[in-house]
Amino acid sequence: MSLFKIVATLFLLYPQIVSSKSAVALYTPSHSPCPDGFSLYRPVGISNQTLSEGESAYVSSRKNHVLPEAWKSYLSNVEGTNVSLPGYVSSILSGANGTEVYPTLGIATSGGGWRAAIFGGGVLNALDGRNVSSSRNGAGGLLQAATYLTGLSGGAWLVTSMMQANFPVIHDLVFGTSGGGQSSRFGGWLPQYSLATPSDDLVTDVAYLAGLVADIQGKHLAGFPITIADIWAGNLARHFLNGTNGANFYDFTKAHGAGLTLSGVAKTATFASFNEPFPIVIADSKSNGGNKSNILVGGQIPLTNPIYEFNVYEMGSYDPTLAAFAQTKYMGTTNGSTCVTGFDQLSFVQATSSDVFTSYNTTNLTAILQLLDPIIDLTLLEPNIELDAAVYPNPFYGVNKGTYIDSDETYLNLVDGGFNTESIPLQPLLVQARGVEVILAIDATADVDGYAAGSSLIASQTRTTFFPSAYSFPPVPSSVDDFIEKNLTSRPTFFGCNSSSPTPLIIYVPNGAPLPGQPPLTNTSSDQLEYSLMEVQGMLDQTFDMATLRGVDDDWPACLACAVVDRARVMLGAIRSGVCETCMKEYCWS
Ligand SMILES: *[C@@H]1O[C@H](CO)[C@@H](O)[C@H](O)[C@H]1NC(C)=O
Ligand SMILES: *[C@@H]1O[C@H](CO)[C@@H](O)[C@H](O)[C@H]1NC(C)=O
Ligand SMILES: *[C@@H]1O[C@H](CO)[C@@H](O)[C@H](O)[C@H]1NC(C)=O
Ligand SMILES: *[C@@H]1O[C@H](CO)[C@@H](O)[C@H](O)[C@H]1NC(C)=O
Ligand SMILES: *[C@@H]1O[C@H](CO)[C@@H](O)[C@H](O)[C@H]1NC(C)=O
Ligand SMILES: *[C@@H]1O[C@H](CO)[C@@H](O)[C@H](O)[C@H]1NC(C)=O
Ligand SMILES: *[C@@H]1O[C@H](CO)[C@@H](O)[C@H](O)[C@H]1NC(C)=O
Ligand SMILES: *[C@@H]1O[C@H](CO)[C@@H](O)[C@H](O)[C@H]1NC(C)=O
Ligand SMILES: *[C@@H]1O[C@H](CO)[C@@H](O)[C@H](O)[C@H]1NC(C)=O
Ligand SMILES: *[C@@H]1O[C@H](CO)[C@@H](O)[C@H](O)[C@H]1NC(C)=O
Ligand SMILES: *[C@@H]1O[C@H](CO)[C@@H](O)[C@H](O)[C@H]1NC(C)=O
Ligand SMILES: *[C@@H]1O[C@H](CO)[C@@H](O)[C@H](O)[C@H]1NC(C)=O
Repeated sequence: MSLFKIVATLFLLYPQIVSSKSAVALYTPSHSPCPDGFSLYRPVGISNQTLSEGESAYVSSRKNHVLPEAWKSYLSNVEGTNVSLPGYVSSILSGANGTEVYPTLGIATSGGGWRAAIFGGGVLNALDGRNVSSSRNGAGGLLQAATYLTGLSGGAWLVTSMMQANFPVIHDLVFGTSGGGQSSRFGGWLPQYSLATPSDDLVTDVAYLAGLVADIQGKHLAGFPITIADIWAGNLARHFLNGTNGANFYDFTKAHGAGLTLSGVAKTATFASFNEPFPIVIADSKSNGGNKSNILVGGQIPLTNPIYEFNVYEMGSYDPTLAAFAQTKYMGTTNGSTCVTGFDQLSFVQATSSDVFTSYNTTNLTAILQLLDPIIDLTLLEPNIELDAAVYPNPFYGVNKGTYIDSDETYLNLVDGGFNTESIPLQPLLVQARGVEVILAIDATADVDGYAAGSSLIASQTRTTFFPSAYSFPPVPSSVDDFIEKNLTSRPTFFGCNSSSPTPLIIYVPNGAPLPGQPPLTNTSSDQLEYSLMEVQGMLDQTFDMATLRGVDDDWPACLACAVVDRARVMLGAIRSGVCETCMKEYCWS
């Protein structure tokens, strides 16, 4: 919010335009005749919905060719902690009971700006079998065994930067590697460059921001509405996409990730070989023409508004009100004859999922137009364009009139995925056709003192009651005070231990408190836009301890495995025993 004011003020001061011709062209969508048999969208059905062909094929190849080894090596890490496991844990994970009983695990990583990206990264590192400390600790390998990985806002920066950088270990993702950041490589997150004023030098910052505006002109001239989200996209690209390092950060002759599309990421080696969990990010609909008086203080939007999902193949919503998806590659297309490509810029998707500017609740567009006008001619904009949201031509125009609130919208107005108060992206993992049995929910929401205290789980529970035919959610406490009082946030907690499929079991990993005796490092403000590398390293290390309960509970890695296989255990007809019985008593909330 303050960021927007800074950006806007700087635009006013800087009259010239610098621009990289290549970035301009690469960010500009193009039109061509649609391929034969093209359909604008795919209805997915209402109760048990259908997945795209691409996703089904990905998940099934992963299950058959990648997961058997992944579960085996995770099991051997858990066994390495020398805690004796019940037979069923080993037989499920070793494959002795067949691929059908492998757990379907989804990992969800929340919003909360840099804090959430870093905390989420720290948890993923603790689950990453490629990190020797993580493997030795007994949680390593779970990331490799997951079927889905979802993110929103700061969590979406993490998930999308990881997928496009070819799924590096978190250390390399965050800090880059030597030789990184050359034209097409990943140079690290560069958190030391503020997301508002990267250099702290007025002239440099002004030139930088003007350059970001210049880079999106091609999209504007091609007839697509541009908004603050497009400017935000260029800024995020310099942190979370290939092509930027400390040496070329201000060099506007470089593309800095322009032209890198969400559909294009399918070609990245790790994705092409099914060697990463299927990535999904989400955003919320502000539904401009819906009912704006439903927009609450701070830009909060109603829980019933559609949640839109973006994956490599498709963009749309499984919410029963829409229940339709359009192809990601042709995002921006609104009829079956002229197809748009190049609209699905990964930077724009990152910006959509983290579009916090809607907290302006701008009914007065004149005000924003005036701020942007001096730099770029926005007079060709359609009237009523919501300049504080990410604007997408609506492929679902006319669908489900009466139930789908964006049905009459020429443009979708999409905003930060956490603006409906659900800051953990659980919705995609509740879609029954995905068959997710266990969800590891990483929560870095700022509820109290910058720490998470369950508000997001409460919101998810409430939201599922609006769509009972589609989603099923385990019981959780009804207030943040309850979460705190029952100590459910000072360490991981399991929810849904007594529920059964299709209700998933939730392994809640909150950024709730440092381990006893450690200073509070991970509860920084969501408005902190810049971090030193040392501060980030400190947060990652502390998060590692919070996720592995290092030195606090030696049984924790075994307990985690018990929770992961618990739905599969029911399928085998086994009863909880041994350490799993103790663990469930200790970590389940009932
Ligand atoms: C587990 O036991 C093996 C063999 O006794 C030993 O080498 C190893 O250090 C033990 N691991 C842990 C984490 O205690
Ligand atoms: C699962 O595998 C174990 C080990 O091979 C076997 O003893 C058990 O009978 C199997 N359970 C079922 C239900 O197939
Ligand atoms: C990004 O760079 C990494 C190397 O840092 C490379 O492996 C990956 O393929 C690149 N991604 C894209 C989409 O070009
Ligand atoms: C819009 O929402 C408000 C608040 O929920 C409600 O009072 C009002 O009746 C709604 N208006 C329309 C036209 O639906
Ligand atoms: C948001 O804007 C709408 C429409 O202009 C208005 O009715 C509503 O009161 C605003 N909400 C806040 C919190 O300002
Ligand atoms: C289809 O959409 C394009 C813009 O993407 C537009 O130029 C064209 O007129 C539309 N065609 C029809 C038949 O509506
Ligand atoms: C909208 O904003 C402009 C510029 O700040 C201002 O002059 C105008 O009075 C505002 N209109 C309304 C209806 O608030
Ligand atoms: C939903 O569909 C999937 C895939 O077709 C199937 O595996 C699953 O059992 C179904 N779930 C329910 C609750 O019917
Ligand atoms: C972080 O937590 C500590 C201890 O609870 C508190 O003193 C501090 O104010 C918190 N920081 C933020 C930014 O909320
Ligand atoms: C919560 O933790 C505190 C400190 O560790 C302890 O004193 C308290 O008894 C715990 N409360 C519950 C309900 O377990
Ligand atoms: C493994 O994780 C530890 C703990 O956070 C970290 O210090 C180390 O750098 C990581 N190693 C690699 C290779 O990523
Ligand atoms: C959940 O199951 C456990 C063990 O089966 C039982 O002890 C507990 O009472 C159950 N809780 C609820 C709320 O049903």
